[in-house]
Amino acid sequence: MKKLIPFLLIFSVVFIFGSFSSDEDNFTVGKDTPVWQVLEYLGEPAPPHAIEDRDKEMIRMGKELILDGTTKGPKGKKAKLQSKHFKCISCHNLVKEDPDLSVSDPQERLVYAKENNLPFLQGTTLYGIVNRMSYYNGDYQKKYDGNPRIIKSHKDLREAVQLCAVECAQGRPMKKWELDAILTYLWSLELKMGDLNLNDDDFAKIRAAGDGSNSNEIKELIHSKYLDASPATFSLTPKDAKEGFPGITGNPENGRLVYDLSCLHCHEEKIYSMYELDNNKMTFQHLKRHIPRYDRYSIYQVSRYGAPSSPGKRAYMPQYPLEKLSDQQLEDLRAYVDERAK
Ligand code: HEC
Ligand code: HEC
Repeated sequence: MKKLIPFLLIFSVVFIFGSFSSDEDNFTVGKDTPVWQVLEYLGEPAPPHAIEDRDKEMIRMGKELILDGTTKGPKGKKAKLQSKHFKCISCHNLVKEDPDLSVSDPQERLVYAKENNLPFLQGTTLYGIVNRMSYYNGDYQKKYDGNPRIIKSHKDLREAVQLCAVECAQGRPMKKWELDAILTYLWSLELKMGDLNLNDDDFAKIRAAGDGSNSNEIKELIHSKYLDASPATFSLTPKDAKEGFPGITGNPENGRLVYDLSCLHCHEEKIYSMYELDNNKMTFQHLKRHIPRYDRYSIYQVSRYGAPSSPGKRAYMPQYPLEKLSDQQLEDLRAYVDERAK
């Protein structure tokens, strides 16, 4: 038996590395295999934000910058807080937030958020962001038409991070090492084959693609299972705020999820804002009073157009595109506010 152990060890090392190495004849793809690794094996060029060295220290620093806005840098010195107002996680999740990555459906996401104890936010998750090829899509490009930084960040992940650090988080720009650390951390959040809704047949086809013969078809199959850009469509408040969106009846139970998983994420105990929301009847009465008006406390107004910062602060509220909060969900929120105001 003793003699067997080293043999088994060597065998398992060869086996494990064998299953990951992409130039093996036998192309093994498991649920943990990174999607990019498979695509590159099938001949897709690495993305411009590819990183060779996935250094553990860099991942730690990048993660801390995203979670806390600061970290102990490479020289052992604590970095200056990136933003006084927000952390990246005020507006972005760091885990998978859609049950099916090939669609951006706010209701599926809301239910998934509840099941997985996640917030439901205006920004898209940073999980799998290295698998996306464009950023600030759709109406973000239209709204800031001509802004050179938005145009630049559309196809450049580093630039997208930098833009959000300054414009979304209202903080200082990242230093070069900080950006490198964040990029390295983001690569630790890349999509794995198991994140895609692939069935056994699909897996078999992909594994069989090892000979490279039908690699285009297989690449298409893989790409069809996730969005490589997060869509964004801006929308309007209802024409008549008293009536709400025509033809839509709100469901207060669903509205509760929006309130708890989204609004309270930033407003409970003023965690990321000056304005406080809680579960008191008076709070709901205040919100209800403002619904028929087009003013700064109207849930329609702030959801569709965002909210400016309070005097002396720079934190503002980002708007929700339709992909992040549908008209139905907004009516659901209204129904919940009405119910709790009684
Ligand atoms: C106040 C909210 C807020 C904060 C704070 C914030 N972001 Fe964002 N971020 C957004 C919104 C809204 C978008 C718009 C596009 C989207 O995510 O759907 C965005 C977009 C992005 C994108 C492009 C996503 C895409 O697929 O279009 C990246 C990358 C990003 N942010 C990184 C960061 C990082 C890193 C931080 C922390 C330094 C940060 N953000 C802080 C709200 C925020
Ligand atoms: C990403 C964080 C975030 C989320 C999520 C969020 N808000 Fe806000 N909200 C803010 C910030 C920041 C402000 C700006 C004023 C401040 O600092 O209080 C604001 C402002 C507001 C205002 C105007 C307050 C005023 O003084 O003018 C209202 C009303 C409001 N939010 C309601 C909501 C509702 C309802 C939701 C859920 C649909 C929500 N917010 C979700 C961060 C957020």
